Amino acid sequence: MKTILVTGGCGFIGSHLSLFLKKKKYNVIVIDSLIIGKKKLFKGNKFFKINITNKNKLEKIFQKYKIFAIYHLAGLSKLTESFKKKALYQKNNIQGTKNIIELTKKYKIRYLIFSSSASVYGNKRSFPINESSSLRPISYYGKTKLISERLIKKECSKKFFKSICLRYFNVVGSNFKNKIGEIHNPPIHLIPILIKNIILGKPINIRSNFNTKDKTGVRDYIDVNDMAKAHYLCLKKIVKTKKNFLALNLGSKKYLSVKEILRIIQKKIKIKNIKIIFTKKLKGEPDKLMASSKLAIKILGWKPKVNIKNSISNMILWEKYKLKNKI
Ligand SMILES: NC(=O)c1ccc[n+]([C@@H]2O[C@H](COP(=O)([O-])OP(=O)(O)OC[C@H]3O[C@@H](n4cnc5c(N)ncnc54)[C@H](O)[C@@H]3O)[C@@H](O)[C@H]2O)c1
Repeated sequence: MKTILVTGGCGFIGSHLSLFLKKKKYNVIVIDSLIIGKKKLFKGNKFFKINITNKNKLEKIFQKYKIFAIYHLAGLSKLTESFKKKALYQKNNIQGTKNIIELTKKYKIRYLIFSSSASVYGNKRSFPINESSSLRPISYYGKTKLISERLIKKECSKKFFKSICLRYFNVVGSNFKNKIGEIHNPPIHLIPILIKNIILGKPINIRSNFNTKDKTGVRDYIDVNDMAKAHYLCLKKIVKTKKNFLALNLGSKKYLSVKEILRIIQKKIKIKNIKIIFTKKLKGEPDKLMASSKLAIKILGWKPKVNIKNSISNMILWEKYKLKNKI
């Protein structure tokens, strides 16, 4: 049984990934500081409450287990907060990744799969965005992801280990059957915010000065269960590939505006009268993020399958469950 380390494994994506890997019979070691994540979402074999910025504590895990591969998901990801708390984001996302890199080298672990983000691209004019599009992040969060990617790439070029950096677009959905989903409280992503406010009868803020057809931001939505499968296939691929470094977009070609998303949610929750407050876009928010995931589809032999309407149905169940159980 191979041992896999998942950092940030008590968060939204990490919990789905841990469950997927465990089902594939890997021994899944999860570390999470629980700054955002919840122990309830832990789905691996063994859990350690560790902050990746604490290198000494982190090293104990590398000493204790013979780790086959690492999925490094731990990170802070609030756009606005990243401008206000640059030092925190530098320490958490960049220094944290440096610690992971140094220990990966020291303990001769061959494979490192990193959670990057579409935010490394910045505001683009031509679409879809592919992996060779220019990298010009417009948020500090995006910068921390780009710097992390570059640190990883540098070590890969020296052949210390192989890596795939996954540039996620907007991740949605939940595995409601296993009671895992988005965990930020208050929610930070569009769909959980809309669902929660609609259920509670609260007004909704919609930012509406984007350079798009209906003036609201357009994003590429990908289901978290499709993402978990892609991560698993990365592990299969990275062992075989001759390439030391790869960056892959993970999107689904479901390009939807905020207003389009709102219409789907409204239909599902069946509430007509919603108070909408129109506001301006936040610093660091691109108008459109529309991915080409052709490379991931080709290299991984993967295809996103979950329909956005199903993703939203699962998210509604999850948000209701969180409210009922005060999670
Ligand atoms: N959700 C998305 O749409 C999306 C899009 C692009 C990139 N990402 C990236 O993917 C990764 C996972 O995202 P998510 O949506 O699951 O986020 P999340 O906030 O739900 O999960 C991140 C987890 O990392 C943990 N963590 C943060 N800093 C840590 C530290 N220093 N030490 C140990 N644990 C720490 C948190 O407690 C949390 O459980 C993040 O790195 C995020 O930036 C997510």
